[in-house]
Amino acid sequence: MGFDRNLKIAPSILAADFANFGAEIEAVEAQGADWIHVDVMDGHFVPNLTFGPPLVKAIRKHVGTVMDVHLMIAPVDPYIEAFADAGADILTAHVEAGPHIHRTLQAIRGAGMKPGVALNPGTPAAAVSEVLDLVDLVCVMTVNPGFGGQKYIDMTAKVRELRAMIGDRPVHIEIDGGMDPKTAPEMRAAGADVLVAGSAVFKGGSVSNSAPYGENIRAIRTACDTLV
Ligand code: DX5
Ligand code: ZN
Repeated sequence: MGFDRNLKIAPSILAADFANFGAEIEAVEAQGADWIHVDVMDGHFVPNLTFGPPLVKAIRKHVGTVMDVHLMIAPVDPYIEAFADAGADILTAHVEAGPHIHRTLQAIRGAGMKPGVALNPGTPAAAVSEVLDLVDLVCVMTVNPGFGGQKYIDMTAKVRELRAMIGDRPVHIEIDGGMDPKTAPEMRAAGADVLVAGSAVFKGGSVSNSAPYGENIRAIRTACDTLV
């Protein structure tokens, strides 16, 4: 996976059928998904629970693109090896998840994955200024993490600031939360290249009727191409 700043849509399987992840992933990739975004929640760092490394490992063989794993857990370090073993390509930890994000990001790289760092809406861009040389991705949350389908919180100024801070570094800017054809273009224009979308991609479709997934993905892409 070479680095580029082309627009990438990363459907979040949080909005997929939990009883059918393998088929959902294959369907959404066939419909044009660039990456697959996997939300891991622990009921402690965020007020919701999803799944852990065994599930991630089980779905790995259904992912033909990039498996982008977003950890909403604290602590992170005890689970890094398990997510490496599960086959995560990118492993993103929250800067708020503990006092030693620098060590965590080094450990993720050391385990053979690409490290990402995520920021909650209440966290300033400056919180990641000292780790930009350690990461492949900065994830800007545009909702308070924990649930899909929430209302987008405008983080345009933070994204612009991060884009300037990142400069020429090969670091993706990912936006997570409330992305749809209305909210995505301003994030793209501000410098984001990866847009996570759960509800906006999976709505109206299913494994047996996956054409809406493609229409939904294209609607986000077209909105960004038109307005940027
Ligand atoms: C929120 C998750 C998101 C979520 C996005 O805590 O990190 O990835 O699934 O869902 P939508 O696109 O529905 O806001
Ligand atoms: Zn996420």
